[in-house]
Amino acid sequence: MPLARSLSVTSLSGLEEWDEEFDLEDAVLFEIAWEVANKVGGIYTVIQTKARLTAEEWGENYFLVGPYVESNVRTQVELIEPTNPILKRTIDKMNSSGCKVYFGRWLIEGSPYVVLIDVAFTAWSLDRWKTELWDLCAIGVPWFDREANDAVLFGFLTAWLLGEFAAQSEDPPHIVAHFHEWLAGLGLVLCRERQLSIATIFTTHATLLGRYLCAGNVDFYNNLAKFNVDKEAGDRQIYHRYCLERAATHCAHVFTTVSQITAIEAEHLLKRKPDVITPNGLNVKKFQAVHEFQNLHAQSKNRIQEFVRGHFYGQLDFNMDKCLFLFIAGRYEFSNKGADLFLEALARLNYLLRVNHSDVTVIAFFIMPARTNNFNVETLKGQAVRKQLWDTAQTVKERFGKKLYESLLHGQLPDVSKMLDKEDFTIMKRAIFIIFHPEFLSSTSPLLPMDYEEFVRGCHIGVFPSYYEPWGYTPAECTVMGIPSISTNLSGFGCFMEEHIADPSAYGIYILDRRYRGVDESCNQLTSYLFQFCKQSRRQRIIQRNRTERLSDLLDWNIIYLHVTWLLRRPFLMPSSSVPPSPALSRHSSPRHSEGEDNDEDERYDEDVEAEKDRLNIRQPTSLPFKNKLSLSQTTSGDEESVTSMQSSLGSSIFMSFSSQFC
Ligand code: UDP
Ligand code: G6P
Ligand code: GLC
Repeated sequence: MPLARSLSVTSLSGLEEWDEEFDLEDAVLFEIAWEVANKVGGIYTVIQTKARLTAEEWGENYFLVGPYVESNVRTQVELIEPTNPILKRTIDKMNSSGCKVYFGRWLIEGSPYVVLIDVAFTAWSLDRWKTELWDLCAIGVPWFDREANDAVLFGFLTAWLLGEFAAQSEDPPHIVAHFHEWLAGLGLVLCRERQLSIATIFTTHATLLGRYLCAGNVDFYNNLAKFNVDKEAGDRQIYHRYCLERAATHCAHVFTTVSQITAIEAEHLLKRKPDVITPNGLNVKKFQAVHEFQNLHAQSKNRIQEFVRGHFYGQLDFNMDKCLFLFIAGRYEFSNKGADLFLEALARLNYLLRVNHSDVTVIAFFIMPARTNNFNVETLKGQAVRKQLWDTAQTVKERFGKKLYESLLHGQLPDVSKMLDKEDFTIMKRAIFIIFHPEFLSSTSPLLPMDYEEFVRGCHIGVFPSYYEPWGYTPAECTVMGIPSISTNLSGFGCFMEEHIADPSAYGIYILDRRYRGVDESCNQLTSYLFQFCKQSRRQRIIQRNRTERLSDLLDWNIIYLHVTWLLRRPFLMPSSSVPPSPALSRHSSPRHSEGEDNDEDERYDEDVEAEKDRLNIRQPTSLPFKNKLSLSQTTSGDEESVTSMQSSLGSSIFMSFSSQFC
C-alpha cells in the first residue's frame, strides 16, 4: 500500500495545541460527505436525520460540506451570505481563485449551514491534482472513472477549504473534520499530509471491496481473512478507489463504522480495526394520539389500493380487503439487497398459498431506483385507463345530475330509464375501449404518486433479505413507523436488534439467518416467515404493528446521538499525558489496561455524559439495572407502565452497550 508507507501516522500529529484542556464552545465542526443535500442512499439519511441534534449542540459552529448540485439546491437549500466571518473570508478567497463555493441553509429539520462546492467548475484543475496525488502516494486515477474524478476534485477542494479556514483564523482554531465514506476521504488524507491542525474522523458506511465482492459469486463472510485485497481490488478495476478508501482509513485520527459486522469487515479488508462503532439513528415522530400511526397506515393503504385497482385493471378478481402489500426498497444492488432471494421466496409463497387455498392475495413492490429506470407502457396503461374511467364517470354523473335537477324543477319525479341517454352510453363505451399512451413525465413516479414514507406506512411488511448491508435504514424506518420488517443477521440493523431484544420476531422484527444457512435454506426460512405473516388476522396485524412501533426509542437519535458524539470527540479531549498513539482508542479495546485507568476513564465518561445531558436537555434513565435483552413478557400487557419500563430498559441497554466499548 504506497500511501501507508509514505505517510507515517503514528500519533495525533498536528494536534499538539490540543493537548491542553480547551473549551469545546470554541471548536468548529465540519461534516463532509458527498450525500450532503444530495440523496444517493442511506448516508444522506444519516446526515439529514442527525442534523437537528448536531446543529443544536454545535450551534453556529457546525458546517456540513457537500457537492453543489443545482437541482438539489433549487429544492433543498436557501443560499445566504456566510454568517461566520472566517468562513466568509475563506469562501471569498476560494471564489476569487477560480472556485465556486456556495453557502446556505439546508432546509431540513435543524436548518444546518451547508457549504456546497461545485466540483465541475474546478474540473480544469483535475489533471494537476491527479499528478499531485500520484506524486504524493502513487495513486493513479483513470480518466474514465467519473466518480473517482469527482472524489479527487471534492477531496482537493475540501482540503483547500479547511486549510484556508485554519489560515484565516486569528487564534489557532480547534477544528474537527468528520469525513464520510471513500468519496470524501481524500480531503482527510490531504489535511494530514499538509499537517493541518485539524482533528479528523473517518466513518465508513461500507467497504468498497465488500460491496463488490458480495455482488459477485463469493462466499464473503467465510473468507474475510483470506482475501488478497490488492489483487481483488485490481481484478475489479477499483484499485485506485480502494487506495483512496484505505488511505483515509489509516490517516484518520479516529476511524469508525456503523456496525459490528462492518467493523470486522473493515479490519480484514481495510486493515484497521475501527476505534468506535456508531450505530445509525432516526428522528422518531411522536404523535399526540398513540394510535395515530395506525390511522396513517389505513390512509396510505387506501392510496396504494387505488393504485392497485389501476394496475390490475381488468384482472381484479381478488378481494382487495384480503390483499397484503409487501415491499423491498433500496439502491439497485440486486443480490446485495437480497432482491433475488425475495423473488424466489415469493414464488415459493405463491405455491404455499395456493395449496392451502388461502384467500389472501399478496402484492409485492420492488422500489429500487436504477439509473436506467423507465416505466413499462403496459403498467402506465392500467393507470391511465383507471383515470379515464374515473373522468368518464364524473362526466356522466354531472349530466345525470343536471337531468335529475331539471325534472325536479318541473315538479316531476325522473323517469330513471331515460336518465342515461345514448350519448352517455357512447361516452362510457369509449372510455373502456380507448387505448391510452401516456408519456413518461419525470423520474418521480407518475404511477404511484406517494412519497416514500407514505408508501411504507401503507404497506404491511418490508422485506430486506440483504446479503451485504452495513446498517440498513429501510427496516429501521419501517420500525419507527410501526411496520414489521424482515432483515438479516448479515445486516447491521438486524444484528443490533438481535443484540438488544430477546425475541425480535415477537415485535415484528424478523431476522433471517443468512450467516449460517445456505441460500436455499434461507429462502425457505423467508418463505416461512412470509407464509406465517399471511396467516395473521387483521387483529393480529394491528397488535403486531403496535409492538413494532414501541421499539422506536431504540433507534431514536435522541438516545444514540449523545453516546455517539461523546465517543467521537473523546480522543481529542484527552489531557496531554494520556493522549494515546493513533489509532487513538486502540488501547481501550484491549482488556488488559490497569484498573486505575479504567476508573478514571469511567468517571470522566460519566461526568461528560451528565454534562452533555444537561447541555442537550436529554434525560435518559441510565441508573436502571442493565438488561442485556428485552423479553416479550415485559410488554405483552401493553399497558402504559410496561411500555415506559420497556423504553427505559432500551435506553439503559443502549447506554451499557456503548459503555462497553471502553472495556
Ligand atoms: N429510499 C428513498 N426512496 C425510495 C427508496 C429508498 O428515499 O424510494 C431511502 C430510504 O428511506 C433509506 C435509503 O433510501 O433511508 C436507503 O438506505 P439504506 O441504508 O437502507 O441502504 P443504502 O442504499 O444506503 O445501501
Ligand atoms: C389500522 C386502522 C384500522 C384498520 C387497520 C387495517 O389499524 O386503524 O382501522 O382496520 O389499520 O389493518 P390491515 O393490516 O388490514 O391493513
Ligand atoms: C451505506 C450502507 C447501508 C447503510 C448506510 C448508512 O450506504 O449500504 O447499509 O445503512 O450506508 O450508514
